[in-house]
Amino acid sequence: MKRSSRRSDKPRRTVSIVGTGSHVPERVLTNQELEKLVDTSDEWIRTRTGISERRIAGKDEATSDMATKAALAAMKQANIAAEDLDLIIVATVTPDTLFPATACWVQKKLGAYNAACFDVSAACSGFIYAMEIAQQFISTHVYNTVLIVGADKLSSITDWTDRNTCVLFGDGAGAAILRNRADSHGVITTYMGSDGEYTDILHMPGGGSRCPITPENVNQKLNTIKMLGKETYKQAVTAMSTAADRAMEAAGLKFEDIACVIPHQANIRIIEAIAHRMGLPIEKFYVNLQNYGNTSAAAVAIALDEAHRAGRFKMGDYILLVVFGGGLTWASSVIQW
Ligand code: ACO
Repeated sequence: MKRSSRRSDKPRRTVSIVGTGSHVPERVLTNQELEKLVDTSDEWIRTRTGISERRIAGKDEATSDMATKAALAAMKQANIAAEDLDLIIVATVTPDTLFPATACWVQKKLGAYNAACFDVSAACSGFIYAMEIAQQFISTHVYNTVLIVGADKLSSITDWTDRNTCVLFGDGAGAAILRNRADSHGVITTYMGSDGEYTDILHMPGGGSRCPITPENVNQKLNTIKMLGKETYKQAVTAMSTAADRAMEAAGLKFEDIACVIPHQANIRIIEAIAHRMGLPIEKFYVNLQNYGNTSAAAVAIALDEAHRAGRFKMGDYILLVVFGGGLTWASSVIQW
């Protein structure tokens, strides 16, 4: 078992993403199938959200199973072995178990026994929060190689009788390996924010210490996602625009310098609104929510992996990640690839 070294006096070093990976379950749930579950229509879902279908994990497929597959793909791309990992951070709101952390389950599945492991709870913003934590550890020479994963099985906390929410979500995982790389600048800046005043516009009331799992609470469906859609929408547009502005200011860049924006994948109208505020054409945004819906912490991570593999940006390009989620939480990161 490796121990984290004491902070060194060496100058901070840059931190790059050296590999990405993702995994989504095989089962596709279409809007037409949802029409049979609740009073909705394919037309309503597509025009209000942009979503056509989503992936649903099997009964035996937990968050750590999807996370491990995404991690293996990222490790393969980065040419990293399990024993090289110093730290594993999993961002999730649907852990396999409240404890131990999902990161520990992933460690076991990977056989990555040199790593320290913990989870981050920042809802849909979790992947960028995890990236910033990893960045701090690597830049200060505490760790060399960090695996971050955004993974969620939102289908396990969805109320399948609530048309306001059940049409929005899906399951999946995305991962990245972070390291210092001499030939690239990597993560230039990350901005994170939160506002606990809005805890109750997007939350799951049951399952924690305030409202433990009891038959009564389960009967009231308190172990499922509750959301005030309109309020969440408004907050998302403002918070993501502000986060992107702050990160760009800190990086000393203009939006036109960005080759590709990778936003949280909740609703195409939210993405169009922030594109409008940034003055950027929608074509600069990588969008895959039509295929997966909102996969929470996995969404930006899957999008990053797909955009990377599709060649949407190349070495030296600037990319902008921007996310928003329950908490409320939000974050944005500027990276030179
Ligand atoms: N099918 C048909 N009708 C529906 C559905 C549905 N699936 N869902 C809601 N409606 C109805 C409502 O009941 C309402 O009917 P009423 O006027 O008779 O009361 C009508 O459609 C309009 O509802 P609105 O809430 O006004 O619809 P809106 O245009 O705001 O779209 C939506 C709703 C898609 C949820 C939107 O508000 C949104 O995307 N909000 C943000 C959601 C989001 O990003 N959440 C995730 C954040 S990330 C995280 O941390 C998980």
